[in-house]
Amino acid sequence: MFIREAKDTDLEEIAHLEAICAGSDGATLNEFKEFYAAKTHGEFLQVLDDNQRLTGFVGYTHNTDEQELYIWNLGIGPEDRRKGFARTLMDHVMRVGQTLKVKKFSLKIPETNEPALVLFKSFGFQQIARINQHNADGSASLVFQLKL
Ligand SMILES: CC(C)(COP(=O)(O)OP(=O)(O)OC[C@H]1O[C@@H](n2cnc3c(N)ncnc32)[C@H](O)[C@@H]1OP(=O)(O)O)[C@@H](O)C(=O)NCCC(=O)NCCS
Repeated sequence: MFIREAKDTDLEEIAHLEAICAGSDGATLNEFKEFYAAKTHGEFLQVLDDNQRLTGFVGYTHNTDEQELYIWNLGIGPEDRRKGFARTLMDHVMRVGQTLKVKKFSLKIPETNEPALVLFKSFGFQQIARINQHNADGSASLVFQLKL
């Protein structure tokens, strides 16, 4: 199992994982393709590869003005959950952030997403805002931040 940069040939598998993980709130294959085509050096799309398939992925952006890494997506396939893979990807993102000398990490999570809330709180993320009716089902999202 290893973490590597996503390739354009991974995008269908990533979009498939995204559809399972995020449903109608998730990014489509076309959106991933557009992101990938326009990706700058401060934008990251990385995958967890077990040599046969992708078990998960993470997308994040380095906002140099804010000295921040914004994590816009993290997903693990249902059959691979609770094996520590999200923690592995987040440990990696934390190391990248430290290398880039960011001062904070941030992300948004639907407030109904208990697994993600528990995961990010375990890394020390704290809620700093709430966005009402942010998701397709009308639920709010919570803005979480971790300051270094
Ligand atoms: C949230 C998600 C990424 C967690 O992935 P995962 O690989 O299962 O997480 P890990 O096995 O690394 O778990 C790390 C910690 O997160 C917490 N956690 C993960 N899943 C949990 C669950 N279902 N219930 C409660 N806590 C959970 C636990 O604290 C866990 O540590 P522990 O197993 O030692 O108790 C995964 O459920 C997922 O892809 N969900 C759909 C997409 C999503 O919600 N993404 C996050 C928002 S962008």
